Amino acid sequence: MRGNPRVRHLWTLTKRTRPVLPRAVVFVQRGAYIEEVPNLSVEVLPGHKRGLALSNPVMTASGTFGNGLEYAKIFDIQRLGAIVSKAITLRPRQGNAQPRIVETAGGMLNSIGLQNIGIEAILRDVAPVWSTWRVPVIANIAGESIPNYAELARRLDGAAGVSGIEINVSCPNVENGLEFGSDPRAASDLTYAVRRETDLPLLVKLGPNVTDIVAIAAAVADAGADALTLINTFPAMRINIDARRPELGWGSGGLSGPALKPIALRMVYQVARSLSIPIVGCGGIVSAEDAIEFLMAGATAVQVGTATFRNPRAPLDLIESLEDVMRRQEIEDVKEIVGAALPARRESATADAGRVAVDHPPPRL
Ligand SMILES: Cc1cc2nc3c(=O)[nH]c(=O)nc-3n(C[C@H](O)[C@H](O)[C@H](O)COP(=O)(O)O)c2cc1C
Repeated sequence: MRGNPRVRHLWTLTKRTRPVLPRAVVFVQRGAYIEEVPNLSVEVLPGHKRGLALSNPVMTASGTFGNGLEYAKIFDIQRLGAIVSKAITLRPRQGNAQPRIVETAGGMLNSIGLQNIGIEAILRDVAPVWSTWRVPVIANIAGESIPNYAELARRLDGAAGVSGIEINVSCPNVENGLEFGSDPRAASDLTYAVRRETDLPLLVKLGPNVTDIVAIAAAVADAGADALTLINTFPAMRINIDARRPELGWGSGGLSGPALKPIALRMVYQVARSLSIPIVGCGGIVSAEDAIEFLMAGATAVQVGTATFRNPRAPLDLIESLEDVMRRQEIEDVKEIVGAALPARRESATADAGRVAVDHPPPRL
């Protein structure tokens, strides 16, 4: 028996009675109380010298949870696996014209435009609060050029309260107007430049609007990413038929929510079956069953975004119901199901076919 020592006797004891068990069951056995607790803890980066150890695999997704401060007043955010900050840019940004959010079937569109308070205010006012939290905070960064991103990483490196960096590559490069994440070479150059500035856990968050996600994933893995976050929103739009204009002030926006889930799931599966880099799954996750699908597709952890707009406690509720589902499915340790739906052998041929030649010197780590 692996798993949490507290449950050792209990799994034997409950085999017959489990179908009628309530959520938190306490048994008296030889006068001692034993609680049934499936093990939810995960290490996202087993090979990394700092690692990213989480008490459970559920993070909040960037841009959907502020910087965590407001939510800390509503519920116990320390119970989350990790918090990912709103995108941080070098200077404060006002974001795009309103309206910036509109509902759509199975989700929503947003064109917030990276509104945020900028790195200076983050380091001065927010990171000191993060440093008092038990829950790890990952700083999501966005820029207009590679030196922009590199500077952000340099300033975040060593900042108390920052446990990792997530690069949002779905931003246009001012040099050519193309998103960094749309091309393996650009994504690789960006990852490499950030990697040189920090030995913090480095997650690269890819967007789904690409022809070959495995090629981009392989390029950033080779350039020094420790993990991938899959995926960001999908470009989309709605038209207001009375005004005969796009609903969003910016014209188009990013689709998120349940409508995105099957696309995200497929991308996680595709990458996990080809590469060995750890993956954090994201896109339309609402329920524990959604999260389990992503874990079975090969993700080590997941992020919950749009679900929080309907229910601010959504990530916490998900953690609680994940425990329930694991009990029902007789899963003692969440790590048991990571990659459970993948074929036995990695498809290295697919990965090699999608790979770009990277001629950077090896990364610093
Ligand atoms: C309002 C809003 C703002 C977002 N802002 C960011 C951001 O600043 N940086 C980023 O990397 N992703 C951002 N995202 C994308 C989410 O982190 C997530 O990748 C996406 O919404 C898919 O997950 P979901 O369907 O669970 O929301 C944002 C999404 C929404 C809905």
